[in-house]
Amino acid sequence: MKKTLAVVLAFVLLGTAGGCAHRASAPAETPTLRSGAPNPSPEKRKKTIKVGFSQTGAESVWRVANTESVKNALSEKNGYELIYDDAQQKPENQIRAIRNFIQQKVDYIVLAPLVETGWDSVLEEARRAEIPVIIVDRMVRVSDGDLYTAYIGSNFLKEGQTAVAWLEGVLEKYRRDKKTVNIVNIQGTIGSSAQIGRTAALEAGIRSHPNWKLTAQESGDFIKPKAYEVMSRILKKTSDIDVVYCENDSEAFGAIKALQEAGLKCGVLNGGVIVISFDATSEGLSECLSGRISLNVECNPLQGPYVEKLIRDLSEGKSVEKISYLEETWFDCFTITKDIIDKRVY
Ligand code: AHR
Repeated sequence: MKKTLAVVLAFVLLGTAGGCAHRASAPAETPTLRSGAPNPSPEKRKKTIKVGFSQTGAESVWRVANTESVKNALSEKNGYELIYDDAQQKPENQIRAIRNFIQQKVDYIVLAPLVETGWDSVLEEARRAEIPVIIVDRMVRVSDGDLYTAYIGSNFLKEGQTAVAWLEGVLEKYRRDKKTVNIVNIQGTIGSSAQIGRTAALEAGIRSHPNWKLTAQESGDFIKPKAYEVMSRILKKTSDIDVVYCENDSEAFGAIKALQEAGLKCGVLNGGVIVISFDATSEGLSECLSGRISLNVECNPLQGPYVEKLIRDLSEGKSVEKISYLEETWFDCFTITKDIIDKRVY
């Protein structure tokens, strides 16, 4: 029965997978779950490639894995000089870092933007300096698409749609689909692509199911303490909650702590609150194995080798895809195994 559900959901989800952007396939030398694959022929290059990388911060295990992946791929031994900047969750620090990279005459800028808006002027400055900009992880919303050269990251809307389709199937299986379903949404950093896409998918799901009610919606900023605080505050007002849709693993950990402290059980298997999460870090998957997280949708942080391949192709004068999405999957409490968790590198 469990297997049947997994197969049906996989079929449904594959059916809903959309988007016309290119789906990034792993660079040839890059195993899907490993970061920092060496460039096979850096010695053939005439010169070291100088790259400035502006990262949002270090808010989650996912983010740390993302930073490591880019640093490993753009390493000295692969023929790069990397200038790394941690913006500590402040877009103004990212703008300052980009200006600094321009002054240092880098060959490429890699930007993992905190939020989608506010980049037009500084990207125009990079364009005037003729420095190609590669956007990673989250997207930018700019007036002119030519302000960046390429994007590689996750299809956050599709991730959210995966979660909504899964929830629909599970509520039906457990015959909870006709009753009122009270949903709490702990959002990510407001204005980030990860938040915009995942929230939009949930809101669309709520609009199309008259019995799904949005009980509360607040940002947990992708961090555990904030999500704990938000969930605890919501629980003071109501404990009539069926689903908590957290927008990353760190938030799910904080929400679970608050739910348990309030005496609520977590997990669809024991008739408790259905906690949905994103990222699928090894800790998040362990929570899935324990049943406390019911669904964990993967968000792949191992983007370094793809960024390296983009830069290498551009340096060799090859044309590159403008927008590429990484392949991602999902895991639930019915199908997760210890073996899957042991293979996880983040
Ligand atoms: O942009 C990706 C999101 O940012 C991940 O889901 C989250 O964990 C990270 O902080």
